[in-house]
Amino acid sequence: MRVGFVQFAPEIGRLRRNLERAEALAPRADLLVLPELCASGYNFSSRAEAEGLSEPAEGPTLAACRRIASKTGAAVCAGFAEKSGNAIYNSALLADAKGLVGVYRKTHLFENEMDFFTPGDTGFRVWDCAGAKIGLMICFDWFFPEAARTLALRGAEILAHPSNLVLPWCPDSMPVRSLENAVFAITCNRWGDERGLNFIGRSQVTAPDGRILVRAPEDADAADTVEIDPARARRKTIATRNDRFGDRRPDFYAR
Ligand code: ACM
Repeated sequence: MRVGFVQFAPEIGRLRRNLERAEALAPRADLLVLPELCASGYNFSSRAEAEGLSEPAEGPTLAACRRIASKTGAAVCAGFAEKSGNAIYNSALLADAKGLVGVYRKTHLFENEMDFFTPGDTGFRVWDCAGAKIGLMICFDWFFPEAARTLALRGAEILAHPSNLVLPWCPDSMPVRSLENAVFAITCNRWGDERGLNFIGRSQVTAPDGRILVRAPEDADAADTVEIDPARARRKTIATRNDRFGDRRPDFYAR
């Protein structure tokens, strides 16, 4: 299957412009990942601003993802500010041309996100979609190896990872998340400056052997895809007598 990312530079508050930009860039594929908060922008100045830019799961971001799915043939994963009751979640949706497949709410909030968002309550979820088992995590979740591990233990073959990265380490760390779990990972970052925050671009797809299959530049739009075989992620062997999951000793992992 062909998987990839749509890296661009959303402008805060310009929902329509941002979704149109993603639609214009999206290439043909089976699975595409867009950045975290790709419609609203990221660096809110107040909770009121975040709330004004939030939307229900069945909102404009889902509508744009369905249009992208119809145009490209891909299932689409995209980050959005989700309004649910009085709460706002930093969420990601997975959709195909028929509609919403599922929603994940970010577990590990980063810095000022804590002023705007409620910590996610969905846990790490995996869906059968586009011919593969797809697990969702969002940006800073990468820093907690338990996120990728939990998704892999739940059967994920591909980690879809919408991001707005500002710290420098994720692109060099995701190859290890892929290697230790034998999964593919698609990190889609944004690039550009927003109210004094600089985002590092470098979206990428990593493979179960830790290789970086494709990587975007740090400061430009980039819509790249690569052919993968998700079945490769079902083999968890490391050596003849070692297995990533079979050799785990969870009894010794509690604090
Ligand atoms: C981040 O989690 N957006 C850094």
